[in-house]
Amino acid sequence: MDARQMKIKAAEAALAHVEDGMRLGIGTGSTAEEFVRLLAEKVAGGLRVEGVPTSERTARLCVELGVPLKSLDELPHLDLTIDGADEVDANLALIKGGGGALLREKIVACASDRMIVIADESKVVETLGAFPLPIEINPFGQAATRLAVEKVAARLGLSGSMDLRASGDGLFMTDGGHLILDASFGRIPDAEALSSELNSIPGVVEHGLFINIASLAVIAGPAGARTLQA
Ligand code: A5P
Repeated sequence: MDARQMKIKAAEAALAHVEDGMRLGIGTGSTAEEFVRLLAEKVAGGLRVEGVPTSERTARLCVELGVPLKSLDELPHLDLTIDGADEVDANLALIKGGGGALLREKIVACASDRMIVIADESKVVETLGAFPLPIEINPFGQAATRLAVEKVAARLGLSGSMDLRASGDGLFMTDGGHLILDASFGRIPDAEALSSELNSIPGVVEHGLFINIASLAVIAGPAGARTLQA
């Protein structure tokens, strides 16, 4: 089974949790896109759902494939969000934001009764941090915000490079008009402490640590899909 087939397996298993009439948060990234394709087939077959997309990219795919969309303001309370992740640990703490959609992803997931993560085995880790942590920052005062993040990291014994995410010749800009600082800490032993410290920095809009948000992960490997429960 290749990487794409594993993503499809995970998406298929998550689709089994989708019921007629549900209000769904729809994630971003290549795994979430496999879910959108499968969901669109069900919608074409008569399943009634309303989706809230977590990015402009996901919104475009949903429109193209005929998945009905609403904004989060129209549907502020969702039944279920299904989304990918860059890393998942045994407690279902996640790193997200590799695709740059972490802010909307977190808002949508937190507006949902449940979040199911879909991923292939390569995303499962013992300790978060090998994947650079995306930190979404306001462009205003970005150098000061970076210094503040460095101070917090040093206080928690974390070190490593931090790079503003690039795109083409310029800087990557999120759907909300913010920048992303990718922090390569290597290992984050206390993700909860880092999360609350980052949340206390005014220029940090949001970060990619999703702790106590997901309730189930469907992990697909060569032998099939397994689940991790929070
Ligand atoms: C998007 O911002 C991310 O949080 C994605 O959910 C994450 O990067 C996983 O993407 P893939 O499914 O493409 O690996």
